[in-house]
Amino acid sequence: MFRNVIVRVPSETICNGITSADLGKPNYKLALKQHEEYVSALSKTGVNVTVLQPHDEYPDSCFVEDVALCTRECVIITRPGADSRRKEAELPDMLETLNNFYTHIEYIEEPGTVEAGDIMMVGDHFYIGESARTNRAGAEQVIAILEKYGLSGSIVPLQEVLHLKTGTTYLENNNLLVAGEFKSVPDFEKFHRIEVEDEEAYGANCIWVNDYVIVPEGYPKVKKAIKALGYKVLVVDTSEFRKIDGGLSCLSLRF
Ligand code: GLY
Repeated sequence: MFRNVIVRVPSETICNGITSADLGKPNYKLALKQHEEYVSALSKTGVNVTVLQPHDEYPDSCFVEDVALCTRECVIITRPGADSRRKEAELPDMLETLNNFYTHIEYIEEPGTVEAGDIMMVGDHFYIGESARTNRAGAEQVIAILEKYGLSGSIVPLQEVLHLKTGTTYLENNNLLVAGEFKSVPDFEKFHRIEVEDEEAYGANCIWVNDYVIVPEGYPKVKKAIKALGYKVLVVDTSEFRKIDGGLSCLSLRF
């Protein structure tokens, strides 16, 4: 169960966010509206939402998931692999907010890089994507920290997508949504896997929050499959965030 969520309002500079999507620039007003709808959907799940203010210097800073790994025992402040995002993990308002919730605060150090969009929590185990943003040194630091607190981690190399959770979502109850390269990860064979077709691959980035699953607008097969598993589904349009390679999970820290 999650009690708390942290989000950051998108900045007007969101149109300069890193992207490989080739879908055009985000419309700022629409991004703000979609962000409000996202917060409203999260609030329906019973969590307390802390909303941080925008930071114009960091176009991608609404993707707060990448700057911290929130576990039941500690928070790990990451060291983002993208140069333009590195200092997002040092923003004082985020650090102060996390400090209000956590006694144990840990840090990823050079030469490690980690973006927590690469880390998927399954109970007390954390799957860590080794990606263009999260390197092996960073992943090993995460595992060493987790083990100090009686938690565990393992590495899942990825090639095709930005972050691990770009293409896979744990929906609790042993259910795992998988798209693309994650359909054939041996470590995931033990889960009940719900395979997402390539044309709906973006829809594999959902979030489970307290028996609700928030699903992006426009992926009817994903929505139908999740409903069929018995979850309560909330739909939020993330079209403007998709334009800069973002999705539902990147937009919040949930703990
Ligand atoms: N634009 C999101 C990212 O590249 O991290």
